Amino acid sequence: MPKPKVFVTRVIRDKGLDLIKEFCQAEIWPGELPPDRATLLEKVRGVEGILCLLTERIDGEVLDAAGPNLKVVSNHAVGFDNIVIPEATARRIPVGNTPGILTDATADFAFALLLAAARRVTEAERYLRAGKWVTWGPSILLGMDLAGKTLGLVGFGRIGQAVAKRAIGFDMRVVYYDPSAAPAWNATPVERLDDLLHQADFVSIHTPLTEQTRHMVNADFLAKMKPTAVLVNTARGGVLDQAALYEALQAKRIFAAALDVTDPEPLPLDSPLLTLENCLITPHIASASTYSRDMMAYLAAQNLIAGLKGERLPHCVNPEVYER
Ligand code: DGY
Repeated sequence: MPKPKVFVTRVIRDKGLDLIKEFCQAEIWPGELPPDRATLLEKVRGVEGILCLLTERIDGEVLDAAGPNLKVVSNHAVGFDNIVIPEATARRIPVGNTPGILTDATADFAFALLLAAARRVTEAERYLRAGKWVTWGPSILLGMDLAGKTLGLVGFGRIGQAVAKRAIGFDMRVVYYDPSAAPAWNATPVERLDDLLHQADFVSIHTPLTEQTRHMVNADFLAKMKPTAVLVNTARGGVLDQAALYEALQAKRIFAAALDVTDPEPLPLDSPLLTLENCLITPHIASASTYSRDMMAYLAAQNLIAGLKGERLPHCVNPEVYER
């Protein structure tokens, strides 16, 4: 029997790729950059499965270009805002994602950003490299303490909860805003987002990007934060209004921000945010640990293969496709 044809939009880690090659006739896009839109539409024509990254927008046009053979779309990410889920569901195509295995890596990185912004680590290194370190000084590069301070988590899913665990080890108090989260022993829920913003010394964003959360972190949100507060975003760039953040940081209405995600990605080098000393930006690498990326590739391959076999995906974001 011929193996099912699939298109994989980038070279992923061998732990997933080996599995895919064993079960499928796979065309794997070799470029460092994603295929452009026209190429994507051409490459998916007639395939039974698509394995994509968060850099590819998968909408009705792509699904139609693939055509009636398409059985599954597997996203190599836990977030799936790059996929228009109702379009896939309308065509009864299951969509897979990779939850769980990147929780610790992402929480570690969120905490690394929090510490780095609080203690001005990247700014201090720039200071040293610029030859400004002439002596030890009592008031040089002073930052914020963590112990005894309040961390406010906006979103208390797997990653938010893992960040809370780390914060407890640093003697922080944790509050969270997430109306759908179950109670936790180590964190206190707040009823309104405003309550969190008024209390928190550190605010870390852990919500998916949806129509409701787009630009949730706007001028009004930032104005309610303490002037000494630090903002961390490892969720999605679209959750934050970058122009409003620039204004707030420049006017020192908050102490600092650390972002692993931006809108757009990559962030253009002429972004005003890059002119600010109190803004630390990394290139969407919170899940970039070897274990995490190996396992993302593996789970994405498992979802793909299950879909090709007509089996339920181990991690499906639109399980309603299985309802009769
Ligand atoms: C995800 O999986 O959604 C992450 O953003 C990738 O790092």
